[in-house]
Order: sequence, then structure tokens, then C-alpha cells
Amino acid sequence: MPTLFEPLSLGAVTTPNRVFMAPLTRMRATQPGDVPNDLMRNYYTQRASAGLVISEGTQISPEGKGYMDTPGIHSDEQVAGWRTITDAVHAAGGLIAAQLWHVGRVSHESFHDGEPPVSASAAPYRNRTTIRGEDGRPTRASCPTPRALELDEIARLLEDYRRATINARDAGFDLVEIHGAHGYLLHQFLSPDSNQREDRYGGSLANRARLMLEVTDAVVGAWTSERVGIRISPIGSFNGTEDPDGAESGLYVARELARRDLAFLHLSEPDWAGGPQLDDGFRRELRATHPGPIIGAGNYDADKAQRLLDAGLIDAAAFGRAFIANPDLPRRLEDELQLNAPDPDTFYGGNEAGYTDYPVYA
Ligand code: PHB
Repeated sequence: MPTLFEPLSLGAVTTPNRVFMAPLTRMRATQPGDVPNDLMRNYYTQRASAGLVISEGTQISPEGKGYMDTPGIHSDEQVAGWRTITDAVHAAGGLIAAQLWHVGRVSHESFHDGEPPVSASAAPYRNRTTIRGEDGRPTRASCPTPRALELDEIARLLEDYRRATINARDAGFDLVEIHGAHGYLLHQFLSPDSNQREDRYGGSLANRARLMLEVTDAVVGAWTSERVGIRISPIGSFNGTEDPDGAESGLYVARELARRDLAFLHLSEPDWAGGPQLDDGFRRELRATHPGPIIGAGNYDADKAQRLLDAGLIDAAAFGRAFIANPDLPRRLEDELQLNAPDPDTFYGGNEAGYTDYPVYA
């Protein structure tokens, strides 16, 4: 079995190691316009020794935005900003994927000219997101009840994903990752709790999974399957998406995705957000269902990652908080060097403090 420090063939690319950088919301894009900037370029370039850098969630459209100062990938200015980042990561020897994000109901009317965000259904729901406060600083606010996407809006939504994929390719990304996890739009459709539709996108599991699979097909159609991965978290209740049959939903989706021969399937496990640890039984079923590369994420350390690699249950691991605090994480893990501790106070929003000022190992 491979170690974490051996290459992995991932669709169109071969990653130099299996220590990936997880997608991480950092809320530092330039305003107006949610534009990627030089500070973000420095941050990503510092972390280019990751086997694969997966970008923070980047909204495919203004409708897809749910948090203050997150970057987008729908305007020319945003594409130009991302281009400086991908060029710099490549110059440093790295590979980078764009995470394509639509938050659905995890949003706020202040991002949508006072209108409610969209979701599968207009179901009342309790959650909070981060908006700009009166003082200009991030503040937590309740998410309003969303409105249900109309059936005749789905084609436009798929077009937004298609356009974002072309933009990611033009911006120089190596891959795209569809965000199908964590209670955002595609997960809102998948979960019976947030999806009470009575059309072909609601009801049966096949109907609830339809949007995720149609989005996957649109994204693959805009580029090619070997450039496309997807992140799912069918088990876990982050952002209020409860699915008592999450394991069954996840395996159904994985089986359908396996037919698309994607670059990877990325599983975010419930313990990333304080939930229980996933058992190996589900990992084994997932592996049997999805023969392509599987990335595991969720409170991983080197031991957990290597154990699951040895068991043949994952092919790579994505590290979040450890990568925030340790720009040279692959080397630190390989040489068993001490890790810097992350500072949660600087995770979301702000400047270079807690972002680009974590030291590499001396
Ligand atoms: C967050 O901003 O807390 C966040 C964003 C995207 C995720 C998970 C968490 O997938």
C-alpha cells in the first residue's frame, strides 16, 4: 500500500503526494466584486507543496453566495484574479482545483438585494451565516426562510455551473470540485428534510439525487470527466441537513457518480464538525461502490490517513485546520516535525494575520 508521500493518479493529473489541502472558507476576497487578490495568491502559493490544493468554496453565481467576502468565479475580474493564483501555484510546482459552490439557503437577503436565497423548498429552517455588520466587520445573522427554485429555473442553474466550469478552466485550474456536501444547495436537494418537492427533483432518492447528478453531467460536459471531482457528506447534519438514511443516499450517489468516471470522490466525514467518527463499514461499502480515487477528510492526522490508506479505503487525505497553520504540512508530516497550532479567531475574514504569517518549519 502507498504512503501519504507517494504520487496519485487523479484523472488528468498525477499529484506528487496524497496530503491534500481541504477547501477552507477564509473570507478575504476584495470588494466590491468578490475578487481573488494578491493576499489570497500568497496564501495559496505558500501551500503549493500539497499534493493538490482545493480552493475555498467559490460561488458559481451571485445567487450562490452565502458568506461575506467569499470569492466568485462568474465575472471576468474574478477569473483574472484566480489566474494570478493558479499561475503562482503552478510556478511553485503545485496543482490546484476550484471548488464550485452554491450555498442555496445558507445565505442572507443582504447578499441578494433583499430577496430570500433559493433552495429545494421554502421550508422554514434555523441556521446562521456570516454577513457584513454595520461596522463593516463579519457578524453572524439568521438565514431567512428560502424560496423554492422553480422547475423552469433548473436549466439556468445548470448553465451557471457550466459557465463557472469554463471559467475555472480559463482561470488555469487543473480540476474542479463540485461542492455537494455540508448542507449547501446540492445537499439540500438530496436530503429529505430540506427537500419537500413534488416534481422530478423531490420525493424518491433518485429524484432527490437528480440535481447533483445533472450538475455533475453539466460540469463534465463543460470540460471532461478526468478534470472533475465532487465532495459529498451524506452522513452528518452540518447546516441543518438531517438525513436519517444518509448512508444509503451516499452510496446511491456514489454508485451513480462511479459511472461518470470522475477524477475523484471526496468524502467529508461527520467528525470534521464535531460529529461522531465514521466507521469503516461505510468506508468499505463506499469503496466497493466507487472504484475511482477516494479522498477522505474530517479531522485527519497522519496516523488516521495512513491507516485508511493501508486498509485501501482512501487514496488521499485532505487536511483543513492543519494546512491553515502549517503551509509546509506535507514535509512536516513526512519528517514528523512539530505542527503550528491554528488560531480559530483568524479563520474567517481579516488580513494576513492568521492567514499568510504562519511560519514554515525552520
Ligand atoms: C464555513 O464557512 O463554515 C463552511 C463553508 C463551506 C463548507 C463548510 C463550512 O463546506
